[in-house]
Amino acid sequence: MPSANVRAPGSQTLTTQRWIINRRQWVIDNALNMQAVTFQEFRGHLSIAEVPEPTCPADGALIDVRATGLCRSDWHGWQGHDADIKDLPHVPGHEFAGVVVEVGSEVRNWKTGDRVTMPFVAGCGRCEDCASGNPQVCDHQFQPGFTGWGSFAERLAVRYADANLVRLPESLDYVTAASLGCRMATSYRAVTAQGRLRPNDWVAVYGCGGVGLAAVAVAAALGGRSIAIDVRPEPLKLAEELGAVHTVDASDVDNVPNAVRGLTGRGADMSIDALGSWATATNSILSLRKRGRHVQVGLLAGDHANPPLPMGPVIANELEIVGSHGLAARDYPPLLDLVVTGRLDAAKLVTRTLPLADAPAALAAMNDFGEVGVAVVNEF
Ligand SMILES: NC(=O)c1ccc[n+]([C@@H]2O[C@H](COP(=O)([O-])OP(=O)(O)OC[C@H]3O[C@@H](n4cnc5c(N)ncnc54)[C@H](O)[C@@H]3O)[C@@H](O)[C@H]2O)c1
Ligand SMILES: [Zn+2]
Ligand SMILES: [Zn+2]
Repeated sequence: MPSANVRAPGSQTLTTQRWIINRRQWVIDNALNMQAVTFQEFRGHLSIAEVPEPTCPADGALIDVRATGLCRSDWHGWQGHDADIKDLPHVPGHEFAGVVVEVGSEVRNWKTGDRVTMPFVAGCGRCEDCASGNPQVCDHQFQPGFTGWGSFAERLAVRYADANLVRLPESLDYVTAASLGCRMATSYRAVTAQGRLRPNDWVAVYGCGGVGLAAVAVAAALGGRSIAIDVRPEPLKLAEELGAVHTVDASDVDNVPNAVRGLTGRGADMSIDALGSWATATNSILSLRKRGRHVQVGLLAGDHANPPLPMGPVIANELEIVGSHGLAARDYPPLLDLVVTGRLDAAKLVTRTLPLADAPAALAAMNDFGEVGVAVVNEF
């Protein structure tokens, strides 16, 4: 958690006054408090609380949050599935876009007013993993909404700004850009670097929430042919609109991997578990052709931790199983290029916007699967 500013609400002395950008106007902020979604205990009551605004770290930035998406990883965090959340109360939220309102003394590349997003895994920029171009596996990683307070708040403090902030193209609005903080970026890496998509590859996507729909859209943008799989018709319809060649309603089919084989001939070249469950991880592997690639993106946590995977076919058919975790900031340019040139319709992922006041209920509603597409908070 970022070190909290403990000044009392309403303290009016000149030393506590500072200028901030608030709803696109410069105003004097005296109270240094903000509205945020909080929980006091895992699985406990989610509510809006007035909490101290975080202070800006020397190597980081303070962001005025303009949009933040509701990702199932936020739900996992609230459920207590993420060991990175160590201190309670906690403020969740990690998929954001906003404006820099303050930078720390060590920051060289960013200034007040810059429009940014940031991969939810922010590497330290100094260790061996970061130096090798893999901050997404950095041992010292900062994750908003997990290792620190997150973006379901008016303001967010992030660390390692120079190594991780990503400048938003002028043409990209905040609501669309929010998914670049997590799900669109994650799926881009899953499909490209980890799944090594080639044109015409068949890609089976298990679970068509934010991650799965983004994977379908990225695959389509890069010439892949995806088969979208879900247990609800509405996400499958959206998957079709985003470029899925076929859809499979897993609630209607006895053997989903066989259905994928029927549609592809030999099986999928790449398959992605975009939910995170024993069933989808297993079926994803069983959908592959010989020497195919399974990419695990959905978190296997809680009741779904440590699935007994079908290792027999993995050996006999020389299948690959790889994980995928976020996207390094330096790997954003080709993704941003796809979005700004219109080849990847990131805006279509977003199906509704809501005020921060409605976020606690929306997060709690993720106990079930009701959402279609991505919901983004854009009123604070
Ligand atoms: N690895 C990473 O870097 C990373 C990044 C973002 C999210 N995640 C994880 O990815 C997963 C998906 O996140 P999301 O925000 O897209 O979730 P989501 O809740 O929006 O989507 C999940 C989808 O799976 C569908 N589903 C449920 N049961 C199914 C079944 N048996 N077969 C097929 N589909 C089924 C649901 O109907 C829903 O559409 C979560 O575990 C999340 O924590 C991982
Ligand atoms: Zn996420
Ligand atoms: Zn590092």
